[in-house]
Amino acid sequence: MGRFISFEGIDGSGKSTQARMLADALRAEGHDVVLTREPGGSPGAEEIRALVLQGDPDRWSPETEILLFTAARRDHMERTILPALAAGKVVICDRFADSTRMYQGASRGDLMALVNQLHDLMIGREPDLTVLIDMDPATGLARAKGRNGTEERFEDMGQQMQEKMRDGFLALAAKTPARFTVINGARGLDDVAADVLATARAHLAKATE
Ligand code: ADP
Ligand code: TYD
Repeated sequence: MGRFISFEGIDGSGKSTQARMLADALRAEGHDVVLTREPGGSPGAEEIRALVLQGDPDRWSPETEILLFTAARRDHMERTILPALAAGKVVICDRFADSTRMYQGASRGDLMALVNQLHDLMIGREPDLTVLIDMDPATGLARAKGRNGTEERFEDMGQQMQEKMRDGFLALAAKTPARFTVINGARGLDDVAADVLATARAHLAKATE
């Protein structure tokens, strides 16, 4: 059985960059790595990604959004993540269910219980290790806006919402210390990457003991 590592954090915290750097570093050490992302990571889930990330911030109700993200995740699990884990690979996923807990479960109305119920029913699996890249929202938002893309529904929610997301992620990490490692993302790329790699190495070494 492989290992499942997720990256979480607010928009612009450096998750995608760090996930890619970790994948490269582990491959160089001989691991078979699948680098993937959410929403997306399978053809069907990538189609759902366009529905949830583009358009007006109030395009979907929070409840509908939970269903769409969970549908995308189910397809991603079935077609990408579970087959790779069964083949003994290391799966590195840029965001996973903790993002739904935060963005849909805690941001607008308290829908965390609903998110967790649906997760238990339809997904039923957590990552083995979750790396939380912690970052102050002003820096994160400035970085995210610098990318200038079309997928801005959530970034448009503004800095106050990002504050709430950051606090929520930190609280989730404190509540689930066995799975989470928190890494300070407000540093140079290579410093952050070194901490991420050390964490992943320790985790993978423990898993093969
Ligand atoms: P996320 O996936 O969390 O939204 P990204 O990895 O896409 O974050 O990074 C957002 C932007 O910030 C990108 O333009 C990226 O090149 C830049 N960036 C990422 N990490 C750092 C860092 N440690 N220092 C400076 N810029 C960074
Ligand atoms: P992502 O592409 O990771 O954006 P970023 O690189 O800016 O962090 O994710 C896109 C957006 O989707 C992000 O604003 C968070 C949101 N999202 C949810 O609201 N719920 C979810 O379950 C997931 C996976 C993402």
